[in-house]
Amino acid sequence: MPPLLLLLVVGLGGLLPAATAADEQFVFNGFKGANLILDGMATVTPDGLLQLTNATTQLKGHAFYPSPLRFHRTPNSTAMRSFSTAFVIGIIGAYEDLSSHGMAFVVAKSNNFTSALPGQFLGLVSSATNGNATNHLFAIEFDTILNSEFDDMSGNHVGVDVNGLHSVVADNAGYYSDDATGAFTNMSLVSRKAMQVWVDFDGQTMQVNVTMAPIEVTRRPNKPLLSTTVNLSSVIDGDTAYVGFSSASGILFCRHYVLGWSFDMDGSSAPALNTSSLPKLPVTTPKPRSKTLEIVLPIASAALVFAVGAVVFALLRRRRMYAEVKEDWEATFGPHRFAYKDLHHATDGFSDTNLLGIGGFGRVYRGVLASSKVEVAVKKVAHGSRQGMREFVAEVVSIGRLRHRNLVQLLGYCRRKGELLLVYDYMPNGSLDKHLYDHQSKITLSWAQRFRVIKGVALGLLYLHEDWEQVVVHRDVKASNVLLDKEMNARLGDFGLARLYDHGTDPHTTHVVGTMGYMAPELGHTGKASKASDVFAFGAFMLEVACGRKPVVVQQDDGRMVLVDWVLDRWRAGAVADTVDEASLVLRLGLLCSHPLPGARPGMRQVVQYLDGDVPLPELSPTYKGLNMLALMQDQGFDPYIMSFPITSMGASTISDLSGGR
Ligand SMILES: *[C@@H]1O[C@H](CO)[C@@H](O)[C@H](O)[C@H]1NC(C)=O
Ligand SMILES: *[C@@H]1O[C@H](CO)[C@@H](O)[C@H](O)[C@H]1NC(C)=O
Ligand SMILES: *[C@@H]1O[C@H](CO)[C@@H](O)[C@H](O)[C@H]1NC(C)=O
Ligand SMILES: *[C@@H]1O[C@H](CO)[C@@H](O)[C@H](O)[C@H]1NC(C)=O
Ligand SMILES: *[C@@H]1O[C@H](CO)[C@@H](O)[C@H](O)[C@H]1NC(C)=O
Ligand SMILES: *[C@@H]1O[C@H](CO)[C@@H](O)[C@H](O)[C@H]1NC(C)=O
Ligand SMILES: *[C@@H]1O[C@H](CO)[C@@H](O)[C@H](O)[C@H]1NC(C)=O
Ligand SMILES: *[C@@H]1O[C@H](CO)[C@@H](O)[C@H](O)[C@H]1NC(C)=O
Repeated sequence: MPPLLLLLVVGLGGLLPAATAADEQFVFNGFKGANLILDGMATVTPDGLLQLTNATTQLKGHAFYPSPLRFHRTPNSTAMRSFSTAFVIGIIGAYEDLSSHGMAFVVAKSNNFTSALPGQFLGLVSSATNGNATNHLFAIEFDTILNSEFDDMSGNHVGVDVNGLHSVVADNAGYYSDDATGAFTNMSLVSRKAMQVWVDFDGQTMQVNVTMAPIEVTRRPNKPLLSTTVNLSSVIDGDTAYVGFSSASGILFCRHYVLGWSFDMDGSSAPALNTSSLPKLPVTTPKPRSKTLEIVLPIASAALVFAVGAVVFALLRRRRMYAEVKEDWEATFGPHRFAYKDLHHATDGFSDTNLLGIGGFGRVYRGVLASSKVEVAVKKVAHGSRQGMREFVAEVVSIGRLRHRNLVQLLGYCRRKGELLLVYDYMPNGSLDKHLYDHQSKITLSWAQRFRVIKGVALGLLYLHEDWEQVVVHRDVKASNVLLDKEMNARLGDFGLARLYDHGTDPHTTHVVGTMGYMAPELGHTGKASKASDVFAFGAFMLEVACGRKPVVVQQDDGRMVLVDWVLDRWRAGAVADTVDEASLVLRLGLLCSHPLPGARPGMRQVVQYLDGDVPLPELSPTYKGLNMLALMQDQGFDPYIMSFPITSMGASTISDLSGGR
């Protein structure tokens, strides 16, 4: 058997990169062995027909030349190259004279048509994207059904489409004769006969001509069926585009075929197809025309597509609503990952009634997990960049393994675009600062409770610093990060979160994250959080809990006052000694912890020993007595008024802490 196929592909088809000239002219006299990009129902039959749709309803089929072609003279220029293409198509419907939907020749920036709909959308667009300039789509449609939604002129027309199915120009299928009469001959798209089509585009004038004729008429008629101008440079922006065919079935099945195809970039006349060597359309006997179908079909088809569209829309909306960001590396953290949907349900859609508070890092919501009925607190942390996210999630997960009765248990996380959600055990008694400063609070803390809180936080911090397998620096010890559980046990929360904001900041400018009054003076120049800087913050915290005063207070007369200085004043006056032993211990230990020199601060183990009374607290050095913390901090480069924070949402809470006010 002689080869039916004369593959005159000049160059080697898809083997060559798009930009080579040889790749920009091709001829397929049948598609046997052709290396096309096929999707959906599209396939090449054994005898070389490109079959876009098979006998299945409501499906799509696409076929594209394997490499995108350069349509712009130079990348991004508005000057376009001319092209010329010729192809032979055939549509075989189930019924005589009654087709399912049509097909189209396509030039598109993307060959991904997954979101397009079948039926009257021809697999090109969906009801949501029809006509949208972001489609970057140019098509010649061969439409066999009159769809009034697209202002179709008839049920047998050819149209030039830009980004959608409302044709720029359209006419009934047919051709003009070359003789003096110039008579028009109608053609039926669903005649089950092969038809040849020529599409020519002039890059200079932006004129596009579409000409068609029965396959027996081998010479292209002189007068095109359609002629219009399309600014292809704005449709196909950038550089390259894919060329190919699209089709789709609706309620009735039918088959759409391409028998041959030639294309020439920069040419004014596509290489002629050898019409006698093309594969033949299958011969089938159509079922007789059905009058009922003819009436019912357009209505049913429109209704179905509408229904499909509605379902797709609902699904997309749902998907967007619950969309998450998940990357490969997170697989290992699987068990700690929560589904956004579950968190959404747990918190009644993050409703305001479930809002527990707005902290430095974001909003916190109360929720109840549907599956386990466990009460949780969900913290939504805004996070723009992906930088450092991996390390951070790794740390979050490793922190999730931390278990201590003085730490707020982190249950897991969830990630969305620009947002991180952290799920914690719910603490019914809220944060400590509420009890210290909010006079409406039902519970006023007794000294015994305060002392217990201090000890609890000390144990939690000791665990983070020394008793766990790796050192965790908290970075933001303060009263508002201490939460009280059902039994009024203090639990330290939010550890490591400050880390998130350390990543990705310019290493030359040290952005210090923390809260004024809790920040060790050395942070002003090193910018490096350490165990010692945590101890400093814990010292300030102890003084705060003991005195019920904020670490930085604004006074009416002389501006700010650092709590350490305030206690130092009292101590100098010998007033500290007057208080009960425990309180004196807390105050003196608080001062020792908040020592300006990191080396002079005790470790958390010692702190716990002092608190337990196992080891007597050493006397504070006389030099410390003469010191002024605020002056020292300013010396170290802190400007308590203008501090630089990487994230403005953080700044907000920090500034309120700074001004000592509510
Ligand atoms: C038509 O194509 C679809 C998608 O590739 C396939 O699942 C189906 O089996 C095909 N039907 C026939 C009759 O070939
Ligand atoms: C063309 O434009 C795109 C997007 O504006 C840009 O990414 C690309 O680098 C440009 N190409 C050239 C060759 O200028
Ligand atoms: C195609 O587009 C859809 C969205 O329309 C997207 O989900 C899918 O990942 C894309 N496929 C490819 C291969 O780019
Ligand atoms: C066009 O599509 C883009 C991206 O999909 C979308 O943002 C825009 O709203 C759409 N425009 C219209 C008019 O639908
Ligand atoms: C061609 O078909 C159209 C629509 O079916 C019809 O209006 C027109 O009269 C026909 N023209 C000729 C020459 O048969
Ligand atoms: C389109 O057809 C007209 C009329 O035959 C012709 O003058 C023009 O050159 C053609 N344009 C292209 C791009 O082929
Ligand atoms: C085509 O569109 C491009 C960009 O969208 C514009 O710069 C150019 O002027 C337009 N050309 C014509 C002929 O309208
Ligand atoms: C067209 O194809 C036929 C049959 O394969 C062959 O005999 C003929 O030589 C071809 N014509 C051209 C111009 O290639």
